[in-house]
Amino acid sequence: MSIHTPRIEKRVTVNTIAAMKGKEPITMVTAYDALFAQLFDGEVEMILVGDSLNMSFLGKADTLSATMDQMIYHTQAVCNGAKLPLIVFDMPFGSYLSEEQALANAVRVYSETDAQAIKIEGGAERAPLVRHLTHHGIAVVAHIGLMPQSVRAEGGYHIVGKDEADIERLIDDALALQAAGAFAMVLEGMKTEAARRITEALTIPTIGIGAGNVTDGQVLVWSDMFGFFETFKPKFVKRYLNGADRIREALGQYRDEVKSRAFPDEEHSY
Ligand code: KIV
Repeated sequence: MSIHTPRIEKRVTVNTIAAMKGKEPITMVTAYDALFAQLFDGEVEMILVGDSLNMSFLGKADTLSATMDQMIYHTQAVCNGAKLPLIVFDMPFGSYLSEEQALANAVRVYSETDAQAIKIEGGAERAPLVRHLTHHGIAVVAHIGLMPQSVRAEGGYHIVGKDEADIERLIDDALALQAAGAFAMVLEGMKTEAARRITEALTIPTIGIGAGNVTDGQVLVWSDMFGFFETFKPKFVKRYLNGADRIREALGQYRDEVKSRAFPDEEHSY
């Protein structure tokens, strides 16, 4: 039997996450429903109800068409399943175009779900909006680097932080968002050196995805890490389970047993 690090026994809050910087790496995965959220409960400090669900669960080509209604529905399900992790609501594309709209949507998240924080993509240009939210009592996770909601504007997914000027721009973004009150920051799709410099520059924890082993925590999309999403596999994804193969094997066995009338047997009949 393999030995794992201890499970999480107490409810995680924004203070727990802030206090982990420099002490213990933070674990975060995505979840989109109660069934899997229940499985993840106590296993990780944070759950992100990511707009990645638009791709991995709804079969869309990118995250851009996810809506507030959809995200609220999935977040309610996740909150029904997981009681210990800090649950973060990923604000969908177009839901934070102005300070007023962002605040109205964030208030909706707090009143209709038990999520404890929201996540917003964008650099220093979003700092005033983040400040507006945090001043009104909303806990914000910032998200810089490769930003999937910019995929159409950028013409694809591009790794950032490749030269000194870009690293300095990213550090400026990170510092502006931290000053605006973000309590944590996702760093996505960047050179490890850029993530290291940003993590060192900040007092709030960074959570990396495709950003190397230098951030204060890591996040993975659950359907990627468990091998259920097969459309493509980015370099940074490690598959901890070959989920799709396991399902196909099990379904093959079920098909065989139904066709041969081996199922249901005595044990599974009244
Ligand atoms: O939507 C999502 O799952 C995300 C992660 C990739 C950080 O934003």
